[in-house]
Amino acid sequence: MKKLILFAVLSFFVSSAFASDGNIKLPAPEKSGGIGVLDALSARQSARDFVDGEITLQQLSNLLWAAGGVNREDGKLTYATAMNLQDMIIFVFMKSGTYRYEPSAHSLTLIAEGDNRALTGGQPFVAKAAVDLLYIQDTEKWPESRRGDPATILNCGFAHAGLSMQNVYLYAASQGWGARTRMNFDREGLTKLLGLTEKHNFTLMQCAGPKP
Ligand SMILES: Cc1cc2nc3c(=O)[nH]c(=O)nc-3n(C[C@H](O)[C@H](O)[C@H](O)COP(=O)(O)O)c2cc1C
Repeated sequence: MKKLILFAVLSFFVSSAFASDGNIKLPAPEKSGGIGVLDALSARQSARDFVDGEITLQQLSNLLWAAGGVNREDGKLTYATAMNLQDMIIFVFMKSGTYRYEPSAHSLTLIAEGDNRALTGGQPFVAKAAVDLLYIQDTEKWPESRRGDPATILNCGFAHAGLSMQNVYLYAASQGWGARTRMNFDREGLTKLLGLTEKHNFTLMQCAGPKP
């Protein structure tokens, strides 16, 4: 019960951080503290139970920075990408709306208002998790000279998503939250909602957030 009240209070702070255009400027991520990486590895697991709601803006900032933020002055990220192509777009589905994460600005661009979490999968917990992340690969980030083998590009997309998702698993473990990688979602609905085209490859999704 205490957890739920705290959750409701914190939700208020998230809602008040929206700009008038609906975009969200995230506070600087916390880059130290938390539990040790070995403890996080010991706790990592996939959850099926989530508390329906939102997280604080600071937690959202930390989560997205872990997922794929900039961690060095040269603009490189918290996860590795082939040739540093940074070809993944992380779409963020929350109760308040659907956003695209912008690593260099560490901000969220509003794509669609309202709660579209249910569109991201048929399993019941999907619509309850505070955050659902969709990993889409932008194949146009690949130089034309390397576009001859679509399978290699797609394989790299899945590898990139996996590297990022493990960061999210570890951050979730450090918070005592749940997280779960997912491969089933409404591709047609998501393509329409997000305005995706042939240049975009679907990879995987992941939900994360507080659990009961
Ligand atoms: C590529 C991939 C796809 C997955 N897809 C789903 C899914 O669609 N639905 C689901 O409930 N879990 C999904 N999972 C989670 C696995 O079921 C889970 O990782 C596995 O049972 C092992 O549990 P653990 O992560 O707690 O070690 C997926 C995991 C991976 C790596």
